Amino acid sequence: MRIVQITDLHVGREGEETYGVDVRANFRKILQAARQWRPEYLVLSGDLCYRDGDVAIYHWIREQLDELGIPYEVMSGNHDDPVLLAQAFEREDLLKDSELYFARQVASRTIIFLDTTTGLVSGQQQGWLREQLQQLEQEAMIFMHHPPLEAGVPFMDSKHALRNRSEVQAILLAHPFNVHIFSGHYHVEKAVRKQNLLVHITPSCFFQIGQHSEQFQVDHYRIGLRAINWENGVMMNAVHYLNGEVQR
Ligand SMILES: [Fe+2]
Repeated sequence: MRIVQITDLHVGREGEETYGVDVRANFRKILQAARQWRPEYLVLSGDLCYRDGDVAIYHWIREQLDELGIPYEVMSGNHDDPVLLAQAFEREDLLKDSELYFARQVASRTIIFLDTTTGLVSGQQQGWLREQLQQLEQEAMIFMHHPPLEAGVPFMDSKHALRNRSEVQAILLAHPFNVHIFSGHYHVEKAVRKQNLLVHITPSCFFQIGQHSEQFQVDHYRIGLRAINWENGVMMNAVHYLNGEVQR
């Protein structure tokens, strides 16, 4: 299966100032790049909105995606509202107690999508995740906005990491097969591994964050997507960058 992951769009309201970055142009640009990979499936892994969930922004994003004609999933990040998001994309059936987590069958694989909008994987969601993994007697693929491991990015690790990551790690480490996790949120490109957990952090469609500083710092304004190819038991994935649209 061929999947393209796009993350952390941070689209603002019409005309809203977003660090001098033309976030809408960035998103259109990355979708055109995504098309060249001929993915069967596109995943937007959270932070679709600049600061907080907004129906008009979701509708604009949906228009761009529908125009592209590639099947896609949308996930909620900490700058989103899962209920508004599900409504705007007509996916209310996936909501469970106002959270947007679900599993999909794609090319005979199960893909799990978690909701970490609150900076946590809720207790109810943890129970669901355990069940999903128990049924899955093979390697797992999970998309979650927050990475479940610290990533050696001091600003994000200390201020914005998944708060109950030890609990979540315990569930994932108990899976007797590899667990391939695709995250965003950190605005960096990084691969982190702990035992059977392979965490891939995909760069943002907005800007990237400095990986060495305790303080917030923009590293660069190139934008990235991740192309994932999982066929015949071989998992390949790579990040591809484009120049972002920025005026400074
Ligand atoms: Fe985020």
